[in-house]
Amino acid sequence: MRAIVQDVYGSADVLELRDVECPVAGDGEVLVRVHAAGLDQGVWHIMAGVPYPIRLAGYGLRTPKNPVPGADLAGVVEAIGSGVTRFRPGDEVFGIGMGSFAEYVRAREDKLAPKPANLTFEQAAVIAISGETALEALRDKGKVRPGQEVLVVGASGGVGTYAVQLAKAFGAGVTGVCSAAKADMVRSLGADHVIDYTRDDFAQREARYDLILDTGGAASLSRLRRVLRPKGTLVIVGAETGGPWLGGLDRALRAMFLSPFVGQRLGTFVAKESYEAMLVLKDLIEAGKVTPAVDRAFPLREVPAAIDYMRDGNARGKVVISVREPGSSYPPAR
Ligand SMILES: NC(=O)c1ccc[n+]([C@@H]2O[C@H](COP(=O)([O-])OP(=O)(O)OC[C@H]3O[C@@H](n4cnc5c(N)ncnc54)[C@H](OP(=O)(O)O)[C@@H]3O)[C@@H](O)[C@H]2O)c1
Repeated sequence: MRAIVQDVYGSADVLELRDVECPVAGDGEVLVRVHAAGLDQGVWHIMAGVPYPIRLAGYGLRTPKNPVPGADLAGVVEAIGSGVTRFRPGDEVFGIGMGSFAEYVRAREDKLAPKPANLTFEQAAVIAISGETALEALRDKGKVRPGQEVLVVGASGGVGTYAVQLAKAFGAGVTGVCSAAKADMVRSLGADHVIDYTRDDFAQREARYDLILDTGGAASLSRLRRVLRPKGTLVIVGAETGGPWLGGLDRALRAMFLSPFVGQRLGTFVAKESYEAMLVLKDLIEAGKVTPAVDRAFPLREVPAAIDYMRDGNARGKVVISVREPGSSYPPAR
């Protein structure tokens, strides 16, 4: 099969389109014929091998353990391993499988869910990682309730575009922070107010929030706490401004240590990527309450350009990789 492959950690230049062995579904696993694969900041971190602690977390100390990058996916079940009960060959699915920038990927059964009926494969391929992160941040960590005021810092990003729509679906008022060029898109997703961070400092405004989701910019804890209500909750999702050793983890750790000593709840989390959360997102999408914000699609051979496009801050919402290209011989005739 054709796949994007890397032999070493590095920038997008280390990626090559090559022919490699097709994976085989093991016990409890599903082999998916990938139609589209989602891109997110995590793909870049794993490709580059930074921050360094992720190499200790099982991705490979000196070189990448799995040479094929990509995790988000949507496609069709090709084969199932023993013990798989939820899926059969031919089912349309979305979810997470490590190495999705390829024509086939294997995924654990509990990391896949049925594709929402009203979405294309390109839209469905960008749900799992960013959508689940936004859902867990708001619902599980943030305990959002109807009528609350929510501030989403980074509202135009992969996680933020889901967070704005989900917070509205949960009955909250939403203020989004993003750059001016993306403000209209964030409004169109349902945000009640939008703050352009290039001209206006949210921390200097009078408005106060019950819940803040911080997904971009790495604002200091004191600035975030200033606009958080006395009993409010801050959920630090992440930021791209940290160094190669801690990657911004220091801010999240300080929030966790400070939290027991103040009235506000301050914390961070790592998304669990659960089957239950995928089903909740599927239902909300089919009910028309959430729609993946897809900026643009790149063909498989242009993954390096897609990664640079995302890292340069161009994307409005999500970037997707079309694995089935028009005119290609894939999927093979049978
Ligand atoms: N904790 C977890 O389990 C988890 C899971 C997934 C992702 N993450 C992390 O969460 C972060 C967000 O991910 P993502 O995929 O949403 O990233 P993204 O698509 O790159 O979005 C980043 C957002 O931050 C905004 N931003 C950039 N500079 C800013 C500034 N100075 N002030 C305010 N906003 C600013 C961007 O706005 P403009 O584009 O308008 O400039 C954009 O909306 C990443 O660091 C990622 O690694 C964590």
